[in-house]
Amino acid sequence: MKMIFLGPPGAGKGTLADLAVEERKLPHISTGDLFRAAVKNETELGLKVKGILASGGLVPDDLTIALVKERLSAPDAASGWILDGFPRTIPQAEALEALAPADRVVNFEVADEVVVGRLSTRRVCRACGKIYNTKTMPPKKEGVCDACGGEVYTRDDDKEASIRTRLENYRRQTAPLIQWYGARGKLLTIDGVGDPKVVLERFNKALA
Ligand code: AP5
Ligand code: MG
Repeated sequence: MKMIFLGPPGAGKGTLADLAVEERKLPHISTGDLFRAAVKNETELGLKVKGILASGGLVPDDLTIALVKERLSAPDAASGWILDGFPRTIPQAEALEALAPADRVVNFEVADEVVVGRLSTRRVCRACGKIYNTKTMPPKKEGVCDACGGEVYTRDDDKEASIRTRLENYRRQTAPLIQWYGARGKLLTIDGVGDPKVVLERFNKALA
């Protein structure tokens, strides 16, 4: 199964993808994670996109599409995947449609005020990417990842100004994909509010 997770920043795409891939044994491909890894490793791509990520802007389509093409050509992505955070623009969706069309597009609905609350309290492991929340899902030991012992930090783009920019970009550039995929009969919309396990149940039911 080839699936896209769509939704505003903070909708829970990464959290749900981590839960869903455990059950479905698919690779979880997050373009945000791939860009953050490039920044951390100071690759040529990382140096190009560092400032864009921190400000909450979108990386240009050509760079993003090239990154996804390369990742989808890896052997583990041959029979299915969950794409989290891609596509985010109509040209990206058109490129994916030509490369490897998704079977399903899952749109997680969460209101803006919920999203802002979640992002301002999110923490992430710098080493393995595991997602936490200081209010609802804190690590057992503050600042230390339960899974790998890595440093748990606040993402550079989880600052108020960047959160606002990301939400604006989402509305302007990404939300039109809901209609785009709806018109192609691929869209499933799921209420993203509630305990992640409850959201996972809704997701599994919708796909059954
Ligand atoms: P990316 O990393 O994809 O960020 P995003 O889309 O802004 O989404 P987030 O990761 O912020 O939110 P999420 O939905 O994954 O929520 P999460 O599960 O973490 O992209 C980062 C940047 O990379 C972009 O801004 C852009 O610059 C660039 N980029 C990436 N893809 C690109 C593309 N295709 N084109 C161009 N540029 C691109 O959850 C958030 C918080 O809520 C956590 O604390 C979590 O614990 C909590 N939470 C999750 N679910 C629940 C729940 N059900 N109840 C309560 N709390 C919950
Ligand atoms: Mg994410």
